[in-house]
Amino acid sequence: MENPGLSFFTKYQVCCLGLQKLVIVTFGNPDAIALERGPGVSHGPRKTTTFAPMKPGTILIIDDELTLRGLVTRIIRLEGFDVHEAPDCKTALKKLVQNDIDVVLCDVKLPDGNGVELTGKIKALYPSVEVILLTAYGNIPDGVQAIKNGAFDYITKGNDNDKIIPLLFRALEKVQLQKRVRELEKRVGEKFSFDSILGKSRPIQDAIELARKVVQTNTTVLLTGETGTGKEVFAQAIHQSGSRCEKSFVALNCSAFSKDIIESELFGHKQGSFTGATKDKKGLIEQASGGTLFLDEIGEMPLELQAKLLRVLETGEFIKLGCTEPVHVNFRLIAATNKDLKLESEEHRFRSDLYFRLNVFQIQLPPLRERKKDIEMLSAFFVQQFSVKTNKKPLRISTEYLQKLERYNWPGNIRELKNIIERSVILSNGDELTEALLPYEIQHQTAGGHNSISAFAMTSIEKQHIQKVLNHTKGNKAEAARLMEIGVATLYRKMEEYGLH
Ligand SMILES: Nc1ncnc2c1ncn2[C@@H]1O[C@H](COP(=O)(O)OP(=O)(O)OP(=O)(O)O)[C@@H](O)[C@H]1O
Ligand SMILES: [Mg+2]
Repeated sequence: MENPGLSFFTKYQVCCLGLQKLVIVTFGNPDAIALERGPGVSHGPRKTTTFAPMKPGTILIIDDELTLRGLVTRIIRLEGFDVHEAPDCKTALKKLVQNDIDVVLCDVKLPDGNGVELTGKIKALYPSVEVILLTAYGNIPDGVQAIKNGAFDYITKGNDNDKIIPLLFRALEKVQLQKRVRELEKRVGEKFSFDSILGKSRPIQDAIELARKVVQTNTTVLLTGETGTGKEVFAQAIHQSGSRCEKSFVALNCSAFSKDIIESELFGHKQGSFTGATKDKKGLIEQASGGTLFLDEIGEMPLELQAKLLRVLETGEFIKLGCTEPVHVNFRLIAATNKDLKLESEEHRFRSDLYFRLNVFQIQLPPLRERKKDIEMLSAFFVQQFSVKTNKKPLRISTEYLQKLERYNWPGNIRELKNIIERSVILSNGDELTEALLPYEIQHQTAGGHNSISAFAMTSIEKQHIQKVLNHTKGNKAEAARLMEIGVATLYRKMEEYGLH
């Protein structure tokens, strides 16, 4: 009797051999899988859309039948894949160690084991590898069990042969998507890692060293420092570098909302607990469970809520509005403020018990004027960042421009420096940033850089900058906040402060 597998493979091989170029694209839906064979050659009535050639993957074929294995190998190679072969489980596991395999095509009956069990083992050892099982004709239970063991899919030998190649591409697509997600996650991690905190000066290095020490603990952290010194950057880096990084980093700016909104955002409520509570709402505290809760501008938190927050910190639980049972939570709190919380508590604007609870591990971030030797490095970084963003060729920084920056007092710290560099890059026409590109108050500083109008200047620069960005986004606040890398709530607060509408 003719081997159905062989007949398919032979036909397929003949069909492929006559082709010069094979571009294969897969989309999630199997119906959309199209094999396009060179220009002008259509392949049946399937949907064919824009093509993006896929990078070839690496396949491991596990089968003890030498002829069939060799044939499948040749056919799959024709599709551009790298192929490795193994006649049994033991060799297969060795090949998986030695090579970067993407997809495994595995027979069920193997001399030293069973493909269904091997699937479970492979998925446990290499979760990112996808396995397709070749089951014997009519043996659905094997396939079902393989899926339970983590297989991508199964194929009935002989019956489903024409599905092998499209299925391999789908499995490979999944592997590549997952790789991409991991890469992006890694990049997000890098963006928020300590390595992204620029500065070689002693004060910032001391702060980084302190922060690194607290990463692997659950200790509450209090980040203090003037506006724009990097408190949020530190909070993200602490979260991202610790074991909680897989879980959520949930942030709330306590100055941006009223007491009722903060309460409802933090603690959530049950449906029907008050008029307007149309459905259950999970509070931020619950959402941060396992991860980090970042309470920015904690000095602005209403006193009544400070008491509620303290209770959660002490007991690890709270009762949601409209519920009777407590909710247990496990989050790390990072709080930030530019206020002197000690003074605030002495003057009864901040609860002293909460202050002591928060002040377990304080990291004081230095103002930029106390680490002026970092200005050059920070400026170079921001110039490069904004040149890319505005599609300009790399710009140099003139000596005079840098000297003016180093002489300035920086009341708005790194954020102000960043905004000023962005402004200069936008305004520049040449290949160098010159002092003429600086705002008036930085160009015309009094001796010693003690700019008598610095506070005013900061305000006016920030106001102008926000207005300019809002004009650019045609009033779109979410987009403007994204461009300025601040929260929407902060943008609203600043717009109100500066009377911008
Ligand atoms: N060390 C650093 N290296 C590079 N960029 C930094 C550094 N510190 C801060 N920044 C940048 O400066 C800006 C301000 O930082 P951040 O928002 O963390 O400050 P903040 O202390 O939270 O300010 P505020 O009190 O106003 O909320 C951000 O755009 C951030 O990316
Ligand atoms: Mg902040």
